[in-house]
Amino acid sequence: MLERLLAAPNRWLLDHVEPEWVDYVVSNTMTDFNRWFNGFLWTYDLKALVESIEDEAPGVKTFVLRPNQHWRGFEPGQHIELEVQINGQAQRRCYSPSHRPNGRVSITVKRKAGGHVSNWLHDHLCTGMQVGMKHPRGRFTWQGQHKLLMLCAGSGITPCHAMVSSMLLRPLDQRPDVRVMAQFRDASQVIFRQHLQDWHTQGVPVTLALSGEQGEAGRLNAQRILHDCPDVNERDIYLCGPEGFMAQMMDELKSLGVDPKRVHTERFEMAPPQPVADRAFDVDGAQVFFEHVNARLTLTAADQGKTLLQLAQDHGVNLESGCGQGACGTCKLTVHDGQACGNVMGTTVYLCTAYPGSRHLVLGA
Ligand SMILES: Cc1cc2nc3c(=O)[nH]c(=O)nc-3n(C[C@H](O)[C@H](O)[C@H](O)COP(=O)(O)OP(=O)(O)OC[C@H]3O[C@@H](n4cnc5c(N)ncnc54)[C@H](O)[C@@H]3O)c2cc1C
Ligand code: FES
Repeated sequence: MLERLLAAPNRWLLDHVEPEWVDYVVSNTMTDFNRWFNGFLWTYDLKALVESIEDEAPGVKTFVLRPNQHWRGFEPGQHIELEVQINGQAQRRCYSPSHRPNGRVSITVKRKAGGHVSNWLHDHLCTGMQVGMKHPRGRFTWQGQHKLLMLCAGSGITPCHAMVSSMLLRPLDQRPDVRVMAQFRDASQVIFRQHLQDWHTQGVPVTLALSGEQGEAGRLNAQRILHDCPDVNERDIYLCGPEGFMAQMMDELKSLGVDPKRVHTERFEMAPPQPVADRAFDVDGAQVFFEHVNARLTLTAADQGKTLLQLAQDHGVNLESGCGQGACGTCKLTVHDGQACGNVMGTTVYLCTAYPGSRHLVLGA
């Protein structure tokens, strides 16, 4: 109750006072009473207020959030970990935010059948309530390439939406040549419908594939990709969607001869368990080089069976990670040379659930 009463004054303060000043005053008056009275500002943690809620499509809602003074922004395509209390227990899930004007961000959440958190957000999260947040993470971001193809399905459109929206804010001569191909079950399920139409008029060609309405003809496949995007081999591809869609797209892109190094992926779901046989490789004497931090590991027999993340940690190399179970994508790196096995998609390796697959392995950002 108090939380929702204080929502308006907190918002006003954050909109009118520099975050550094709020931080300065708050950290010098961090009393138990202030923490209890207004835990949204009197905290060292990143939190956000739910400012408004928009219906995007049946079962899809956008939550506009006003983060507190600890927010330092994000790169479009990154994800944040949201924390909510459900029946007294903290639950965390990742969502891909989009920029909103005036220091706001939004997350767009699709209900998952039987899903614990997405359904709670839809049914219980109201304006004026607070959520916990972790600072943004992830490398599913535009790396400055000139030609891009965003290939997405369902809620997988969210990181692509964040990237394309921010590209369109750039001056014309600094925008990449970007094309979007998005698949949804039917017309009513299309997320960001208005934005997709606006992009088209702003020079971003959009292909909408409706898999449920048009049957096979409505699905994205190699033929359709080549038809709508004949220069697919010259583009960097950003791929995000349900696991089945991503696996199929990887095959379709392979059949088109697309260089796997140009395919950037973001998984929303945990990968299916990998066969144990993959891990039987003898690692004694093998080398793993983490190029981006210039760290070379020489493995011993004691390293047998360890994930790449465990190997890094046990050899004193501190790498970015999150859930540790192949769900969030924070630990992802790219294979530059050699092979990895386990949780690997194309050249993308989820270190927390992947293993060395050759005696010489080079990984990088
Ligand atoms: C990088 C990334 C970005 C994402 N962005 C979006 C987005 O923009 N929009 C969107 O709708 N969805 C997004 N998702 C999916 C989202 O995080 C949830 O998985 C989805 O909302 C379903 O959650 P649920 O709790 O309803 O379903 P559940 O079936 O209850 O849980 C879904 C998954 O969450 C994982 N999980 C379960 N418990 C935990 C836990 N304690 N901590 C961490 N993970 C756990 C499991 O892998 C489980 O498969 C994203 C996921 C990732 C990894
Ligand atoms: S996928 Fe979350 S830390 Fe590896």
